[in-house]
Amino acid sequence: MRIDIVTIFPEYFAPLDLSLLGKARASGMVDIRVHDLRSWTYDRHNTVDDTPYGGGPGMVMKPEPWGQALDTVLADRQGESVPRLVIPTPSGAPFTQRDAERLTEEPWLVFACGRYEGIDARVAAEAAESMPVEELSVGDYVLAGGEAPTLVMVEAVTRLLPGLLGNADSAVQDSFARGEMSALLEGPVYTKPSVWREREVPEVLLSGNHAAVDRWRRDEALRRTAQNRPELLAHVTGLDQRDREVLA
Ligand code: ADE
Repeated sequence: MRIDIVTIFPEYFAPLDLSLLGKARASGMVDIRVHDLRSWTYDRHNTVDDTPYGGGPGMVMKPEPWGQALDTVLADRQGESVPRLVIPTPSGAPFTQRDAERLTEEPWLVFACGRYEGIDARVAAEAAESMPVEELSVGDYVLAGGEAPTLVMVEAVTRLLPGLLGNADSAVQDSFARGEMSALLEGPVYTKPSVWREREVPEVLLSGNHAAVDRWRRDEALRRTAQNRPELLAHVTGLDQRDREVLA
């Protein structure tokens, strides 16, 4: 998978060299290229923003550097493929695990990190003539720019690449993963020692009884979901009698 990131803060993406993603990057399994938007500015101050038409507070990112940046990234295409352009914005559609699963299938993603009040809207309109474009939000809060959301999305997408996670099963059990436990949050987890500061690990987890462990995990997932995200329970299909008792 190839990922291009255009930003005015390339240093923001240093964490992409850490951990499993860093290894995948070093091995060439993922090809991540970070570009400084200011390389496509030609004035003395490397200006990337200007005041908004129609008035109002803040600044808007100018279209010219963005147009050139995207043209340059696109010109470097391998074969016939076109990238999918992701524009992080609080005005975008909510980014979910389903989007991560969808995007992990793409051979090539480009992230356009806006700052200030956003990017001149003609940039997305123009880009849409040559590639699929989507605006995505990582949550109902406003960050200072698209860099942190891009890190979030790149991590969510790349950890689903086959071979990137040490244990492929660990993605299956995640909160929000597909399958039997989908729509339920993951319950609590424990490791050794079995007693720590007089606190014991739940006995069932030491029992070796896999059916009992599975049942306990489901109970805990139901309880945690009811506690932290009650609205998700409406999407849980096939609640049995025992589930209902746990939730009662
Ligand atoms: N840029 C600023 N806030 C954002 C958010 N919540 N999601 C995506 N991009 C953003």
